[in-house]
Amino acid sequence: MVRDVLKSFPLFADLDDEELTDIEKIVMTKKFSKDEIILYQFDPGDSLYMIAGGRVKVVLFSKDGKEVLLSTLGTSDFFGEMSLLDGMPRSASVVALEDSELIVLKRRDFLDLIRNHPEIALKILTELSRRLREADRKIGSLILMDVYGRVARLLLDLAEKEGKKINGEIVIEKRLKHKDIASMVGASRETVSRVLRDFAQSGFITVDNKRIIIHQSGTDIENKI
Ligand code: CMP
Repeated sequence: MVRDVLKSFPLFADLDDEELTDIEKIVMTKKFSKDEIILYQFDPGDSLYMIAGGRVKVVLFSKDGKEVLLSTLGTSDFFGEMSLLDGMPRSASVVALEDSELIVLKRRDFLDLIRNHPEIALKILTELSRRLREADRKIGSLILMDVYGRVARLLLDLAEKEGKKINGEIVIEKRLKHKDIASMVGASRETVSRVLRDFAQSGFITVDNKRIIIHQSGTDIENKI
């Protein structure tokens, strides 16, 4: 039921049943297949999207078809808030990484909702601060670090965000291909493969088809390279 999904979103955690029922009446559910483009950079923004299931990537495409991966978002995350808040066109494109189910809220309803529930606005601001911090870290590492440092930083960020600690090692489910890592750190796919191979040969990590394991020796990888 849509209401149960809404209830599970941190954004709506403070709302009571009646308020959730009101929101249920004004949202739509939309399904997107893997690789389908959900919204395009530069288009006008008319809706907020919340992920009920699946994963998406936030990307910039260059004129010659190159892709820069800004972030990936999963269940309970939201996107599309920026153009609703500032009235500017979409800042990036968003593409489904897997078959995904999204809950869509129209601009006017979104603005009414945050006017009536300042705690939702606060949660959005908190998430925007988190994304800005992540962007700041990325800008810093793109300018200040070489490609080894950038890949190391990305692995440690992934470990912090979605890694599981098992016997002092950190296991990251490998959802990103080398190509995706390359577009996140601003390097070629070949360079990323070489860096990961070098990290593996130094004993910092083990990479298999499904996972990246950061060994104890790799948890302060940045200081060792
Ligand atoms: P909007 O600009 O409306 O459309 C694209 C959306 O992508 C944007 O709102 C944000 O929700 C999301 N987005 C843009 N940049 C980032 C980023 N650096 N990290 C995470 N999400 C982002």
